[in-house]
Amino acid sequence: MTTTPRLSPLAATPVLRSDYQRAVAEYWDTHVNDPVNLALGDVDELYHHHYGIGDYDPAVLEAPAPGRDQQVVRELHRLESAQSDLLLDHLGPIAPEHRLLDAGSGRGGTSFMANRRFGCHVDGVSISQYQVDFANTQARRQKAADKVRFHFRNMLDTGLEADSRQAVWTNETTMYVDLDQAFAEFARTLAVGGRYVCITGCSNDLTGGRSKAVSRIDTHYTCNIHPRSAYFKALARNGLVPLTVTDLTPLAIPYWELRARSHLATGIEEAFLTAYKEGSFHYLLIAADRT
Ligand SMILES: C[S@@+](CC[C@H](N)C(=O)[O-])C[C@H]1O[C@@H](n2cnc3c(N)ncnc32)[C@H](O)[C@@H]1O
Repeated sequence: MTTTPRLSPLAATPVLRSDYQRAVAEYWDTHVNDPVNLALGDVDELYHHHYGIGDYDPAVLEAPAPGRDQQVVRELHRLESAQSDLLLDHLGPIAPEHRLLDAGSGRGGTSFMANRRFGCHVDGVSISQYQVDFANTQARRQKAADKVRFHFRNMLDTGLEADSRQAVWTNETTMYVDLDQAFAEFARTLAVGGRYVCITGCSNDLTGGRSKAVSRIDTHYTCNIHPRSAYFKALARNGLVPLTVTDLTPLAIPYWELRARSHLATGIEEAFLTAYKEGSFHYLLIAADRT
């Protein structure tokens, strides 16, 4: 008999606990038609809300006009899915009976990729009701709803059973939360020996306070980019021991260069390119084990 992943009934605390969280939820509930997410996801129905890694094929920018934009879209989508694949590579051995948590799951792209790769259960949580509904509709369309489920929940208080997760990941979501509160909840839900994987942008402690470019990214996305040191202090305080730390910054730059030259540019590309190139911002993958 299969057991279904269980969540506790909604606790007395509301999902959205602060004006800040309400503002973040409103952002994701209203930025629903951005082509940089929708057009890319339409390529193969894996919808992401993160950036991408790896070199792009420069030929897509030289392709003949009819069709060039679609080639750029496909290339950007390839890079964003490559990022999800890299994250999944770091989860460790995952079996079909294992349960995973996608904390801040967006439209669910990485959750579906995890289920396809490992056959495992995935629960995604997001504070955007729109995203939760979108991702659950996708789960039904993809006939994955028996194992992949999305919930309107706060990653700081998921309601998931303690020790129930073999792996937890955050793909560009930790800049929206207090790191100690998030890592305490991930450590609570992870089984001993379970793995936490984080991909995030973080500011560089060595260059002092937040640079102008990093502040611009914060303002643009209503987020609060943490310094690099804050990650490692909070992991240590919460019994999460780093196993791998990879600086993805050089791999992240081509995505932004291609996006800046594409019809999908939103204007924020320059801030990312400046921050990465001046060294005030890093793009990191951290994999840590729950002790
Ligand atoms: C940049 S998107 C990343 C989405 C997804 N991880 C991906 O890679 O496509 C940030 C996500 O974090 C979610 N989020 C922000 N704060 C949250 C919180 N306190 N609890 C749950 N989700 C949260 C947002 O609703 C949104 O889905």
